[in-house]
Amino acid sequence: MTTKQAKKLAKEKLSPRRYAHTKNVAAAARLLAQHYGVDADKAELAGWLHDIVKEYDHDALLQLLGMDAIMAKSAGTQPEAVWHGPAGAIYARHCLGITDAGVLEAIACHTTGRVGMTTLDKVLYLADVISPERDYAGVDKVRALAQTNLDAAVVATMEENVAWLEKTGKPLAAVTLDALAALKK
Ligand SMILES: [Fe+2]
Ligand SMILES: [Fe+2]
Repeated sequence: MTTKQAKKLAKEKLSPRRYAHTKNVAAAARLLAQHYGVDADKAELAGWLHDIVKEYDHDALLQLLGMDAIMAKSAGTQPEAVWHGPAGAIYARHCLGITDAGVLEAIACHTTGRVGMTTLDKVLYLADVISPERDYAGVDKVRALAQTNLDAAVVATMEENVAWLEKTGKPLAAVTLDALAALKK
């Protein structure tokens, strides 16, 4: 699948608001990829597809996760808010025929991170949180950091995310804590 085809699919499948976010993430991923020397087409493709099943309901997500036990990994034990990552990767693999492991893995871990994140994983993870429509407190700091130190930007975002989930009493994906510990080593 080309980036052009992925763009068309995103337009068809997503609400206007999520499509606008997705378009921004695809562009941000492309720029970050160029900045850090990873394949810009792969990053853009992952950007177009990262939230492709985010609007699926509980049952549809479960159905996707049930299609590929290996790719679903431990998604079933993680908070439902992060299911769309692994489920999106399964959709990309089994419904769109995408076989590039790097692209699939980046989609799978874009909400949580993972232990052993690749540069492409980090690029997508950050593109999702620094995309131009994001306006949370501290976003400009993360945007600046993303230009100078990819790892530090990922760590700062994960720490913010963990703090926010704890503050709001929302469930935290265990894999994020593992990813954070691995990045800080
Ligand atoms: Fe997402
Ligand atoms: Fe997103």
